[in-house]
Amino acid sequence: MTLTIDSTVTLNNGVEMPIFGLGVWRSGQGAETENAVKWALEAGYRAIDTAALYQNEAEVGKIVKSGIRPREEIFVTSKVWVDDLSYEGTKAAFDASMDKLGLDYVDLYLVHWPVSDWKGAWRALEEIYENTDRVRAIGVSNFLIHHMEELLSFARVRPVVNQIEYHPYLQSKALHAYCKEQGIPLTAWAPIMKGKVLEVPELIAIGEKYGKSAVQVTLRWMLQTGVITIPKSVHKERVDANCDLYDFELSDEEIGIIDSLDQGDEGRIGIHPDRFGE
Ligand SMILES: NC(=O)c1ccc[n+]([C@@H]2O[C@H](COP(=O)([O-])OP(=O)(O)OC[C@H]3O[C@@H](n4cnc5c(N)ncnc54)[C@H](OP(=O)(O)O)[C@@H]3O)[C@@H](O)[C@H]2O)c1
Repeated sequence: MTLTIDSTVTLNNGVEMPIFGLGVWRSGQGAETENAVKWALEAGYRAIDTAALYQNEAEVGKIVKSGIRPREEIFVTSKVWVDDLSYEGTKAAFDASMDKLGLDYVDLYLVHWPVSDWKGAWRALEEIYENTDRVRAIGVSNFLIHHMEELLSFARVRPVVNQIEYHPYLQSKALHAYCKEQGIPLTAWAPIMKGKVLEVPELIAIGEKYGKSAVQVTLRWMLQTGVITIPKSVHKERVDANCDLYDFELSDEEIGIIDSLDQGDEGRIGIHPDRFGE
């Protein structure tokens, strides 16, 4: 099937999630986030990934509601932060996020990290999902295989995605295979290694063949391999360039080259989920 900027992944509850979107971690409050989201929606992005932690849910909600495109064409994700991981805490945190977003519903709501009372948090998410129209899907972030196994052992509602650090140097192949088997796609955070993919010779070489940057090659690799991706930028030219992915196609051989760049845990940029808070 031909990929376009409107391509979606069908989640295990039937909801269609755009496979490509904008991340807004460290996008500043006020004009910085508002402009990034506005440029993204104008360029055709259909998904925005925020979180309570990012302190820019209000800006995201404001632009989503501004009419650049209909609300139902935009997929908004937010997340409950670790301080609120308990049954009661998560219910209150969800209400607070919805107030800030100012939206009738959020498309996807995630447990941000598997720490503290994340199981209580999951029960709260299940209840919000089952008893209200305020969330279309629920999922997790930074869950390893052992967290997923624990979750699936008691969950009434299956998580629809697992959002993890994922890029050419950290491919978590066992976790990816496990989630795939369970019908739970990955969303990649830090997909372009915070810009560092621009220094990877193999990605540069592949890009030269198509007149594309190493960032574009990396994002295209994710789209072609079914990984949801949410690169962040607050610069218009990068917001535009990061979605210019639909006029070239990587060969199986090139996908194999990128697959072989995995460095396992050595390639990790962020926190290991089992060492969060240490
Ligand atoms: N669930 C989690 O725990 C978690 C953790 C981290 C992130 N996330 C989500 O995932 C999203 C993406 O991850 P990320 O923001 O950490 O990293 P990223 O998307 O890999 O990289 C963002 C960085 O790369 C720069 N950049 C963007 N486009 C570029 C380009 N074309 N050329 C060169 N540099 C470029 C950005 O700078 P400028 O903005 O200055 O352009 C920014 O510094 C986040 O925004 C957030 O929504 C989730």
